[in-house]
Amino acid sequence: MKEKKITTTVQVFDTIEELPPEVRLLMKKAQAIRDQAYAPYSKFKVGAAIQLEDEVIVTGSNQENAAYPSGLCAERTAIFYAGSQYPHKKMKTMAICIKSSAKVVTEPIAPCGACRQAIAEYEVKQDQPIEIYFMGEEGKVIKAKALLDLLPLAFDASFL
Ligand code: THU
Repeated sequence: MKEKKITTTVQVFDTIEELPPEVRLLMKKAQAIRDQAYAPYSKFKVGAAIQLEDEVIVTGSNQENAAYPSGLCAERTAIFYAGSQYPHKKMKTMAICIKSSAKVVTEPIAPCGACRQAIAEYEVKQDQPIEIYFMGEEGKVIKAKALLDLLPLAFDASFL
């Protein structure tokens, strides 16, 4: 038996103001769509904005349902829309933010496992990394240079 160490590196920005201008704009789009989320049950609003290769921006928010598992996260709402409407365009960057009615969240909130898996599918499909930036309501922003940096030992189509 051998141990194998799996490491990942992310970048941490102290505030949204430190981001490159185009990413700051993308995060502001994510904040705007987040505020329109349909989250009456959790009261935890999430917004996602995806920058496509040709400057088109696709956004999405979480959509909840009285039958709880029927709802969908913001990241998948956005990426499935991008995949449906622009199947031939590559996705460059995704910005994600949240807002909780319970407290002001100042720590970055990473996408859930199911969303990481969904985003990974498109990263593999387009054979090009998708940069992921995520934050809470305010404060630090974390950047991963690729979704696969957030999903070690990922399952993908090569196993099928
Ligand atoms: N949620 C997202 O939209 N994205 C995530 O990555 C994690 C969770 C949503 C789902 C649900 O509407 C609410 O946040 C609370 O879990």
